[in-house]
Amino acid sequence: MPLDTTTREWLTDTFADDVRFEEPMSQHTSFRVGGPAEALVRPKGKGDLVRLVQWATEHGIGYMPLGAGSNILVRQKGIRGIVIMLDSCLASIVENKTPSDGPCITAGAGVKLAGLCTFALKQGLEGLNFALGIPGTVGGSIRVNAGTPDGCMGDVVVSVNLLMPEGSLRSVEKTELVFSYRKMDWPSDTAFEPGCEPIILEAALRLKPADRHGLKKEAEQIMQQRKNHQPWTAKSAGCIFKNPAGERSAGQLIDMAGLKGKRIGDAEVSTLHANFIINKGRATADDVLNLVDLVRSTVFQRYQIELETEVRIVG
Ligand code: EPU
Repeated sequence: MPLDTTTREWLTDTFADDVRFEEPMSQHTSFRVGGPAEALVRPKGKGDLVRLVQWATEHGIGYMPLGAGSNILVRQKGIRGIVIMLDSCLASIVENKTPSDGPCITAGAGVKLAGLCTFALKQGLEGLNFALGIPGTVGGSIRVNAGTPDGCMGDVVVSVNLLMPEGSLRSVEKTELVFSYRKMDWPSDTAFEPGCEPIILEAALRLKPADRHGLKKEAEQIMQQRKNHQPWTAKSAGCIFKNPAGERSAGQLIDMAGLKGKRIGDAEVSTLHANFIINKGRATADDVLNLVDLVRSTVFQRYQIELETEVRIVG
């Protein structure tokens, strides 16, 4: 159901300049494609966020938290309900030194991974170098258990604080969350309607003290590798498919199928790393989705392997 007048008025009265209607998601995603969000709100503080979620749930309006918009593909028809940007209200990093268990960082969901990695490097804390160059935020990266073969968010998370759909706060230990390959499941006793998920507010991350110089050197090597092997500056959403079970990565399979450089409209399979689809300029969400389908069916025909998207397709 489209947002009604009462909802629009409440959002305008409550959030003033921090709400926009019919906001093109191409402005808020790294792919630079996608139709409009009915409403996009950027709450200034945690209190505003709680009020918004509570109100949306009470009125049966769907909402979706947005991190850096770096792992989503928004369909052309856009997003119903409210997109909530978390970067201004959940942006702090605090180091809690607990001598018995070792150092621990508490990071807000809206903190960019790049900032988190820099913080850890400066403090001489090891455990996050795998995340270097991943363009997401703390919340988004935990939600999809982002990572590389060297590690993933589930490896460092100790606990998370959640905002539940009805507005209550809940602290959840890692043992209650289920982390698997590029996936995190909510605690088994969590019930919610589709489109009204809990929101990760902040996470405690366990790290290890390490030699600053060594960490920095490793970080430089990782970043150099990424820049050499991935289309670093292109408009994309990172790897588009999960790596399937078996010996060959999605990138290898797509490459072997001869699809590098394959293009539909302005969407192109990267010539540098075949598991990236890039927007060469004016690609639409349909161009990208059609290319995803083409890649998937070609790889299936050749190798009988079903590729599954890593990027979340919404709208
Ligand atoms: N390869 C090819 N052709 C290609 C791309 C890769 O033959 O076009 C080969 C490589 O030579 C290598 C193998 O495929 O032998 C694996 O490639 P790579 O090391 O690039 O790793 P990946 O499995 O493709 C994963 C993550 C990346 C992460 C890199 C870091 C997934 C789906 N992807 O890629 O994450 O940056 O490791 O090593 O797990 C992302 O999540 O968005 C992402 C890019």
